[in-house]
Amino acid sequence: MYKMGIIGYGGMASYHAAELKNYKRVMIKGVYDVNPARMKVAYESGYKAYASKAELLMDPDIQIVLIATTNEVHKELAIEAMRADKHVICEKPVTMNSEELIEVMKVARETGKKFTINQNRRTNKDFVLMKQKVEEGLLGDVYVIESRVEGSRGMPKGWRTVKSLGGGMMLDWGVHLIDQLLFMISEPVKTVYCKMYSLEYDEVDDNFRLTLTFKSGLTAHIEVSTNNYITHPRWYVLGTEGTLVIDNWDCVGKIVRCIDKDSVWEDEIIYTKAGPTKTMAPRRQESIKSIELNEPFDVVDKLSVVYDNLIDAIDGIKPLQITAEQALRVMKVMEASFESHELGKSILLDVCLGCQNYIV
Ligand SMILES: NC(=O)c1ccc[n+]([C@@H]2O[C@H](COP(=O)([O-])OP(=O)(O)OC[C@H]3O[C@@H](n4cnc5c(N)ncnc54)[C@H](O)[C@@H]3O)[C@@H](O)[C@H]2O)c1
Repeated sequence: MYKMGIIGYGGMASYHAAELKNYKRVMIKGVYDVNPARMKVAYESGYKAYASKAELLMDPDIQIVLIATTNEVHKELAIEAMRADKHVICEKPVTMNSEELIEVMKVARETGKKFTINQNRRTNKDFVLMKQKVEEGLLGDVYVIESRVEGSRGMPKGWRTVKSLGGGMMLDWGVHLIDQLLFMISEPVKTVYCKMYSLEYDEVDDNFRLTLTFKSGLTAHIEVSTNNYITHPRWYVLGTEGTLVIDNWDCVGKIVRCIDKDSVWEDEIIYTKAGPTKTMAPRRQESIKSIELNEPFDVVDKLSVVYDNLIDAIDGIKPLQITAEQALRVMKVMEASFESHELGKSILLDVCLGCQNYIV
């Protein structure tokens, strides 16, 4: 069993701790947090409370460090931990920008330590279900994927409202939604257009709309909203043979497929309250088939999946699944999103895994 130390014991670290309670491959030994109140909570939960970051990093018992602090210190902590001979699992967003990530990648290479990122939403069931259905080819050639998460309660207070601490919805939720799509679609991202809104907090984006175009023309539209009182579906996907909708995280959804493309229904004019139309007339029910979608119970969506992979990589059993190279691609898209918003135009990119310009 590997022993882990946690730096930054707030909400997310507590979630890691709860998820790892009965996990057999990692034991949390102790915690360091700059906030004494959080150290007290950790101590009362049975963990060693290290007097300083240095004390945790010098403990030879600790083989893995979880970094779950605010985002502005991820880079320095990751570098210090790897230099102290620890493997690292870092919370998302991995760093504040791609330059910082490249520094981390160089140290990972230099020290030979494993470095992974908690992009845990790759196993979310709604995402896995959408990805499976697209990959099964049920929709034909997919040309639009729309991914949205929407709330109406505004942003959480605290560091998420402060730019210098890595606040804002692009770094908080955008990083997950972009990571999911880039994990699924390996072709290069060619253009990025983003419009951000700062409705409640001036210095950070609390809502945004982002459109990515991939090399083949496939378009992904990502929206993160904190002010939507009426929501869209979680996923809406258009293919040449059908449409998929998944309403929510419970995976309620359906696919509607075309089963009769040749019918001559287009000749009929339909008279609607808004006037006559052929193009927008509803289809004949016999020409489509509806398939109900439900929660995939065989999908494991737990933090242990990320830890299993890290430990398999440390043990040399399997390569890392969530890599810094993948995170760099996401980081470049997020940077282009900020640039697009500032300039009010699309940004041309060539972001792909293995692209010459992204090899560190
Ligand atoms: N993967 C996910 O789904 C997910 C969900 C929520 C948060 N997160 C990420 O987890 C991280 C923490 O978020 P949170 O919601 O737990 O925030 P939080 O405010 O609840 O916790 C952050 C903790 O880090 C401590 N801290 C800050 N700087 C420190 C330093 N230099 N050394 C030691 N401790 C320090 C703070 O005192 C605080 O206790 C962020 O990177 C966030 O993006 C990930």
